[in-house]
Parts: sequence; structure tokens; C-alpha cells
Amino acid sequence: MVVCLCKGVSDKKIKSLLENGATCLRDVMTSSQAGSDCGSCICQLKEMVRKSQQRNGAATSGNAASDTNCG
Ligand code: FES
Repeated sequence: MVVCLCKGVSDKKIKSLLENGATCLRDVMTSSQAGSDCGSCICQLKEMVRKSQQRNGAATSGNAASDTNCG
């Protein structure tokens, strides 16, 4: 399924990025260009990042679980 129509980025691509080192919305956007045009896919990207953080335990510190931003 295509998540970002503007840039033609699929959910598989996003999942692959999240499984291979992307840890936040900015990582995903930088690597894939998803969300860099009209922005209507941002909410879906955030949700995918949030789920990935939950799967990974978001065990670092502080607000990681509630925030999809880097750092
Ligand atoms: S649908 Fe992703 S930037 Fe437009």
C-alpha cells in the first residue's frame, strides 16, 4: 500500500526503514522523502513510527514513547 502518494513511498518501504535504523519521523522523512510535499501522509507516518517505537520498547529515556520526534 502506498502511504505517501506524492513521493510514491509504500508502507513496506517505511517499515523497512524502521527496521533498519530509522527511529523517528525525521529519520523516515529524510530517508524516504515521504511527507516532504503536501504533508497529508504525516499522520500515518507518525503512527507507523509510534508503533515501531512501541515494538522496540522505546526503552531509551523520557518522552520517546509519546513523541515521534528525534532526540
Ligand atoms: S502524500 Fe506524502 S507528502 Fe503528499
